[in-house]
Amino acid sequence: MTDIMLSKSLAVFPGSFDPLTRGHMDIVTRALGLFSQVTVAVLDNPDKKTLFTLDERVELVRDSFKDFGESVRVERFRGLLVDFMKKSGAGVIIRGLRAITDYDYEAQMALMNKHLCQDIETVFLVTSEEYSYISSSLVRQVASLGGDISNLVSPVVMEALRNKF
Ligand code: PNS
Repeated sequence: MTDIMLSKSLAVFPGSFDPLTRGHMDIVTRALGLFSQVTVAVLDNPDKKTLFTLDERVELVRDSFKDFGESVRVERFRGLLVDFMKKSGAGVIIRGLRAITDYDYEAQMALMNKHLCQDIETVFLVTSEEYSYISSSLVRQVASLGGDISNLVSPVVMEALRNKF
């Protein structure tokens, strides 16, 4: 048992968000129907090469959710996700599942997080059909090659990608 109480109505949606896609936004929107607050936790991993800097990724998530008010918080985290959860008092991790190919990696992470902290549950939401083929890496690739990504990301992310390439 953890010393502090972790709230099962506070959820954390962790990820690299390089960049945030409409698939991610769909998961957050639907998670808000289940939890009173969702914190989008942007990974700060200096060892991982990303297209957008940590500050840029955080800012793009903030701007994309600016109309959601207090129910969506945006934070950065470094180190173990469960340590961030304990600091935030949140008891639920949200992850999206697009296809069965996501399952192995996601189940492994969920089990490892359970091993690290028994009080935290992982909840999987199946990505809506229209976003099931979207990933940040494909969005980066298509944007870099001049393809149309207007329906795949928010307007602020589209603008940021346009400036990168
Ligand atoms: O968007 P991603 O890259 O699939 O997100 C992966 C993420 C950030 C959820 C995962 O890498 C993570 O939680 N990293 C923090 C380190 C950690 O807690 N590792 C142990 C649990 S697997």
